[in-house]
Amino acid sequence: MLKTYTTTTNVLLFTCVPLVLLLWVKFLWKRRWLYYYASKIDGPLSFPVIGSTHVLFQGNHGILQNIVQLIQKYKAPMKLWLGDKLVIVVSRPEDVEKILNNSLEKGLMYKFVIPVFGDGLFTRPVKEWKKHRKVISLTFNQHTLNSFVEIFVLYSNTFAKTLEEYVGHGCFDIFPVMSVSVLDIVCHTVMGTEVDAMKTDTKCTNWFFRASELCSIRLFNIFLHPNFIWKLTPFSKESDSVCAQFSSFVQKIINKKRSDRIGSDDDQRKKIFLDHLIQLTDEKGTWTDQELIDETKTLIVSGTDAITSTASFVLMMLGMHPEVQERVYKELCLVLEDAKTVTAEDLPKLVYLERVIKETLRLLPPATIIGRHLTEDVSLKEHVLPKGCTAMIPIISIHKDENVWPDPLKFDPDRFLPEEVVKRHPYSYMPFSAGPRNCIGNILVELERIGTTDVVSGFNYGMMAVKTMLVEILKSYKVTGTAFKSVSDIKLTFDISTKCLDGYQVKLAKRD
Ligand code: HEM
Repeated sequence: MLKTYTTTTNVLLFTCVPLVLLLWVKFLWKRRWLYYYASKIDGPLSFPVIGSTHVLFQGNHGILQNIVQLIQKYKAPMKLWLGDKLVIVVSRPEDVEKILNNSLEKGLMYKFVIPVFGDGLFTRPVKEWKKHRKVISLTFNQHTLNSFVEIFVLYSNTFAKTLEEYVGHGCFDIFPVMSVSVLDIVCHTVMGTEVDAMKTDTKCTNWFFRASELCSIRLFNIFLHPNFIWKLTPFSKESDSVCAQFSSFVQKIINKKRSDRIGSDDDQRKKIFLDHLIQLTDEKGTWTDQELIDETKTLIVSGTDAITSTASFVLMMLGMHPEVQERVYKELCLVLEDAKTVTAEDLPKLVYLERVIKETLRLLPPATIIGRHLTEDVSLKEHVLPKGCTAMIPIISIHKDENVWPDPLKFDPDRFLPEEVVKRHPYSYMPFSAGPRNCIGNILVELERIGTTDVVSGFNYGMMAVKTMLVEILKSYKVTGTAFKSVSDIKLTFDISTKCLDGYQVKLAKRD
C-alpha cells in the first residue's frame, strides 16, 4: 500500500513539476520584453506574486498619498508591479501628450468599474468606443447646452433654498445633499427625464457612490482581483446589491423615456442623448439594449460625481480664501446686475469664477490618476514603454509639479490668466484628461476633431453646470469657514473619482 502511494507521488512529482516549470518559463519568455524594458526603469522593490503592492497597502487614503510620495522619490517614469501587471507612472507633460494621443485603450484595472458604470464610454474597448463617442458627442452641441442652463438654474435654485436649514449650525458635509440635486440636473438634461430625486429622497446617489467605493477597495488589493475570491467577500454581495438597485433606477428612466416618446413627433423629442440612443436602438437597430443601458449609466455616474465634487471643492476653497470669495461675489453682482437668475449668455462673462474653478481643479482634480493600456511599444525620450503595460498618469502630481507651478499648494486663481496659461505646456494641466479620449463633458476639442461645423465655445457641460450651481449658492450665502485650514489638510481617498475623506465640510451664513 505504502509502496503504491510512493510510486504515485513520484510519478506526479516527475510529471507535474516539470510541466509547471515549463509553463512558467513559457509565461516568462512570452513577457521577456516587458521584463527587459521594465529593468531599465526605476521603481520600488518588487517581490514575486505581490510585486510592489506592499508599498501601496495603507487604506484608501494611504494609497493615493503613497503613490504621490513615490512619484516624488523616483525620477519619472517610475515602474510599479501590481502582482504580475506592469504599471509605469508617466508624468512629464511631453510623455503624457504622446501617450494620451497614441494609446486610447483604457488600463486593465478599469474593468473593475464596469459593474457600476456599465461598459460605456469610460471603459469600452477602442473599436466600439469610437462608434459610441461619435454618436454621443453629437448630442452635446452648444445650442443644446445653452438650452440646459434654465434647467441648471431650476434645480440649483431649489437646492440653494434647502441650504437654509444648514445656516447657523457650524460645518456640514455639502457633498451628499448637493449630489441629489446634481442627479436631478443630469437626468433632466442628458436623459430628458425628470426623476425628482430631491423631492422623492431617492437613494440612487448612495448606491453608485458606495458601489464605486467597493470597486476601489478591489482595485489595489490584488488578492481580491480573481472573481472566485471576490465572490467570497461580503464586499461582493454588497456591491451586487447596490449595483442592482442602480440598474433598476436606470431601467426605469429608459422605460419612462420610451413611453413618453410614443405619440410624440420628432420635433417634440428634442434630440438629446437618451432620445437619440433610443432611436438608434428601437428604430434603426444599430445599438443594442445593453449598449443603451451602459452608456446611460456611464453618463449619470460620471456627470453627477464630477459636477458635485468640483462645486463642493470650490466652496471649500472659498471658505479658506475670503478675499477670493469677495472677488467672486463682486463679479457675480456685476454680471447679474438686477437680474434674478443667471443665463447662458452670462456664464462666459464670469471669468474670475472660471479661474477659481480651474485653480480648484488643479489642486483637487476629481480624477486624480488615469491609466492607458499600451497595445504597442511607445518610445519616450529616454525609455521605451513596452506593449502590454499600463501607463499611469498621475494628474494630481502633474498639477503640483513645482517646476511648472511655483509654490504649488498656494491657491492662486490668477495662474489661469491667459498670459500665464500660454507659458505652460498644455499637458501640464488636464483635469478633464486630454487627447481624443478626454472627458465627454469637454467637447470643444472633440467637435473640431470629428469635423463638424457646429463648433461650440469653450464652455462645456461640466463647467456650465458647476458655474450655475455656484452662482445660485453664492448669490444667497457666504461660505464663512471650512473644517480645513489649508489644502494640505484635506485628505483624499483613492476612489474612481477622488473623495474628501472627512467630508466636504463648509459653514454657511445667509447674505443680506
Ligand atoms: C465637471 C467636471 C468634470 C471633470 C473634472 C471630469 C473629468 C474627467 C476625466 C479626467 C476623464 C478621463 C478619465 C480617464 O481617462 O480615465 C473623464 C472622462 C469622462 N467623463 Fe468627465 N469630467 C467632468 C464632468 C463630466 C460630465 C458633466 C460628464 C457627463 C455628463 C462626464 C462624462 C465623462 C465620460 C462619459 C467620460 C469617458 C470619456 C471617454 O472615455 O470617451 N464628465 N472625465
